[in-house]
Amino acid sequence: MAEITHIDYDPATYWTTSAKNFRSSARLHLQHFLFQRTLGYVLESHVLAFISSSDNGRSGRSSLRVADIGCGNGAWLCDLNDELLKASTSAQLDGAISLEELDVMKPPSDDLLEVYDIVHIRAFSSILVDTGVGPLLSFVHAILKSGGYVQWEEVQGDKLVIEAAESASANNVSTKACDTISQMLEAAGKARGSNFGFIDRLDHEIQGFGGFEDVHKQVFEKRKQDYKAWTEDMLMVWGDLAIHIPTKADEPTAKLTRESFLDLFRRAVDETEYGVAIHQRMIMVAVGRKGA
Ligand SMILES: C[S@@+](CC[C@H](N)C(=O)[O-])C[C@H]1O[C@@H](n2cnc3c(N)ncnc32)[C@H](O)[C@@H]1O
Repeated sequence: MAEITHIDYDPATYWTTSAKNFRSSARLHLQHFLFQRTLGYVLESHVLAFISSSDNGRSGRSSLRVADIGCGNGAWLCDLNDELLKASTSAQLDGAISLEELDVMKPPSDDLLEVYDIVHIRAFSSILVDTGVGPLLSFVHAILKSGGYVQWEEVQGDKLVIEAAESASANNVSTKACDTISQMLEAAGKARGSNFGFIDRLDHEIQGFGGFEDVHKQVFEKRKQDYKAWTEDMLMVWGDLAIHIPTKADEPTAKLTRESFLDLFRRAVDETEYGVAIHQRMIMVAVGRKGA
């Protein structure tokens, strides 16, 4: 019987193949809750105002069409549904929530054109390797109705901060293993052509694409009291990387083997248990309205 010894790592398919299990879903839930604690909202204020102002414009029961593209386990959509039920607006999600598989890097099918009032995007940076934001924004623009809103949220993926808590640094706690993994990932990202520069310019990217108006950006500092949870979220990502690295038996001469990575990972976990935090300092949110 053939044995799978390692799996090629491709972030674009990562969540839909080997790692689609309760652990990856739990990690996405944790990430979602942390986003919510940081932002304090599900819908940004311009988007909320748009829903309220167009309440009467929608026919009949004020149904709303929202697409959360690359929605992971759907955690954001579930919270949105709750928020709309509680809000003063009479808007409701049309047909509640349904999930479909589709590739947002390709043009949408005709039945999706100009269908949605709101499109939400979160945590897409690792997917936009080589392509830049163009294909994704084309897709978003095509499926939005005129006057509809895009709300896009990203963490600063390239700006991983490894820092010892004050009490930990006072005790000279090492950050060496965490630093090493962080640098390895940065080098691997560069080798793949990852370019996270667009995150700081998210509003300019949307504006520059054309066809969007009233573009706004907000920047949120992560809360210090959440650093431990962000660290745990990141450790789950790092831990899941091991399966993508060949074992010593697979590639005896490889510089990095699964065994050496797991050893490094265990030391990184130890460092975090002595107070070292791993986080990206900021979350960016950009919103824009599709022009007529
Ligand atoms: C990092 S996860 C973020 C999930 C979710 N937005 C969240 O914040 O929890 C990236 C998501 O994008 C999806 N994805 C990757 N490439 C895609 C593509 N070309 N078209 C549509 N979805 C894609 C993955 O399956 C995954 O659900």
